[in-house]
Amino acid sequence: MASLNRAFAVLCDLSNKHATICSFPFGAFVFILGPFLRTFAVGSTPAAAFFMSNPSSDAGRGNAEPVIRLQSVQKSFALPNGEVFDAVQSLSLDIHQGDVFGLIGKSGAGKSTLLRLINLLERPDAGKVFVGGRDLTTLSRRELRDTRQNIGMIFQQFNLLQNATVFDNVAFPLKIHGRHSRAEIDARVRECLALVGLAEKIDTYPAQLSGGQKQRVAIARALAPRPQVLLCDEPTSALDTETTRALLETLRDINQKIGVTIVIVTHELSVVEVLCRNVAILEKGRLVEQFAVDAPSEERQTALGREIDELVRRREREAREPVEPRPTSLRRNPEEVAYV
Ligand SMILES: Nc1ncnc2c1ncn2[C@@H]1O[C@H](COP(=O)(O)OP(=O)(O)OP(=O)(O)O)[C@@H](O)[C@H]1O
Ligand SMILES: [Mg+2]
Repeated sequence: MASLNRAFAVLCDLSNKHATICSFPFGAFVFILGPFLRTFAVGSTPAAAFFMSNPSSDAGRGNAEPVIRLQSVQKSFALPNGEVFDAVQSLSLDIHQGDVFGLIGKSGAGKSTLLRLINLLERPDAGKVFVGGRDLTTLSRRELRDTRQNIGMIFQQFNLLQNATVFDNVAFPLKIHGRHSRAEIDARVRECLALVGLAEKIDTYPAQLSGGQKQRVAIARALAPRPQVLLCDEPTSALDTETTRALLETLRDINQKIGVTIVIVTHELSVVEVLCRNVAILEKGRLVEQFAVDAPSEERQTALGREIDELVRRREREAREPVEPRPTSLRRNPEEVAYV
């Protein structure tokens, strides 16, 4: 058992080291498996009981501590030429329980780095990261692994276990945790698959699923340990427009039903407009603007902020105004309609 423990510890340590030099799929695989393998090896912890509790939805938000608090976080990377690149610069941000929070900005603005600071896949050079009231930067490795079960994550490329069925993919975090009976796991897997609308795919393999279905399996797996927070890094970038729309509905549904806080990195403004309640705009590693998507728009400071606002206002106009009939000259006559 001691050598098994050591082997798992090495694998878990890779989740930090590898994550900083490669963006997946191996890094994600290790990140997902690491905490569960470690927990399996060393036994369950008191913290686990907390993670299995049902998150409350935004209760008493006015006075409540934010579920995520970033305090003056800073992250730099050493470049091959010896220079240091500041990817995230002295950034502070609060995200409240039950929110759907968008992180947007141009490519290279630091969105993914910021997201990965929330679960310490990237360890900040300075500053503090609080999730569920705990400062992650002060935790031991083992405590951090346990705490990460409170922070689900999904990725652009899904990162499913290809040789495992949908059931086994979703059950994996629960089986490794080792605290649940077979009946409990079975019930939880079915519950999570029903939540993402995939109950009928329980016995299929990832290769037999569409991109949208794979991403929904990934969501079900991330939700299985009942995390308070779900981090999403460009979850719809590999999907077509129609599938994106369905997936966003799934995410919104999950947020409303179980109150899980969603933080989503995206470059698609329509994703923000459709899904997010609050949004932060990043430029060169700095937070340049933050607002509630539906708030009055007079004070938008950035071009991206104004673009989001334009989308919101258009949606509001369309909801208010009945759809205009096509002008007579553009109506197609019966012959035209029959011409195929
Ligand atoms: N491990 C690393 N080593 C060196 N530089 C890095 C590393 N990770 C990120 N960077 C740099 O930090 C900056 C921010 O990267 P990040 O991936 O956070 O951007 P992003 O906003 O997510 O971009 P995109 O929209 O293209 O995904 C980029 O210039 C990137 O090259
Ligand atoms: Mg990115």
